[in-house]
Amino acid sequence: MSPARAVANYQSIQRAFPNAHVCYTVKSNAHPSILAALATLENAWFEVASAGEVLALAACGVRGERILYSNPVKQASHIKIAVDHGVTCFSFDSEAEIEKLAVHADRAEIEVYCRMTVPHAGALWPLTHKFGVEPRRAVDLLKLARGRGLKPVGLAFHVGSQCVRPETWGDALRTIAPAWHEAQDAGLDLDLLDLGGGFSAPYTGPVPPPSAIAAVVNPLLADMAPGAKRIMLEPVRGVSATAGDMILEVVGVAERPDGQTWLYLDGGYFSGLYEIPDGIRPAARPITRDTRPARMQTYRLAGPTCDSIDKLFEMRSPVEMKVGDRLLLKMCGSYVYGVGSPFNGFEVPAVLNADTLGMDLDELTGIC
Ligand SMILES: Cc1ncc(COP(=O)(O)O)c(C=O)c1O
Repeated sequence: MSPARAVANYQSIQRAFPNAHVCYTVKSNAHPSILAALATLENAWFEVASAGEVLALAACGVRGERILYSNPVKQASHIKIAVDHGVTCFSFDSEAEIEKLAVHADRAEIEVYCRMTVPHAGALWPLTHKFGVEPRRAVDLLKLARGRGLKPVGLAFHVGSQCVRPETWGDALRTIAPAWHEAQDAGLDLDLLDLGGGFSAPYTGPVPPPSAIAAVVNPLLADMAPGAKRIMLEPVRGVSATAGDMILEVVGVAERPDGQTWLYLDGGYFSGLYEIPDGIRPAARPITRDTRPARMQTYRLAGPTCDSIDKLFEMRSPVEMKVGDRLLLKMCGSYVYGVGSPFNGFEVPAVLNADTLGMDLDELTGIC
């Protein structure tokens, strides 16, 4: 990993949205080195989904007022720990959530923003069905929250993860605008708009830079969400994807009856690469120990466990791969660390920090 890369990515999003609070979404990579590096930035914000993430940030000196709790559904015990640590800004999208948050209304001013469902064209992983409400329901919920002693402050949405279509943020703003206006007409003083994540990583080719999303969003804000002074972003892949690569070793090679050649690696689905079956494709580069005649080969990549889900993808390799050779997977910085498990007795990957070794990530993977 290279925390310095995460910091550089974070800063480039901040430059594209100079007036927004860029909240690093902790779940994407909560390695202490990444959190600590981002925590040193002046005015860095974070987004959490659990008490465990609040505590991980507290260990890096991040105070509650820099934390957005954007998981619309929370465990009551986690809310208590978050409020104990000074977190006061929570997302919600149901009545049940209002009740859990209202328990704390007498010991802190609890601000709430309602997660809305929005279009997700161009997103690899739409999040729309699991969370979010329609405009009318959003206004009703905000009013209900006010009646329970909470402070309704705004709206939130997420266009879906790895969204490569900047116009989708415009569609989302047009979708939430009626709720924003209706809430204002109802006397609710909304000032927070959370534009969520969706910033994409260049796994297999160029993707729109943060500035392309800003070019869509910024001209619409005043009309779609007048008075929105606190603009929040919750990027993941856009910050951490390029901050981590993975080196895997070939532990087995076998040709199967259908003619396909399989390469078994010392890490796979259960090492944190769970997104691969759903379409995330980190670029793969063979690292061989000796020079061999170039001959294009096609390999099915699989992890080391005895589980049939532990398959990765098909890789074209310019060299023949043998047991002991290595494979470099680029852009494994998001949604890999922290996901891996010791299933079937295989250890989760060890982490090397390129920054503390005084190297760029490419230099470090080059000598591995
Ligand atoms: C509330 C919230 N914010 C931010 C993110 C990060 O999204 P992305 O991976 O698209 O950057 C997610 C992803 O699930 C999320 O649920």
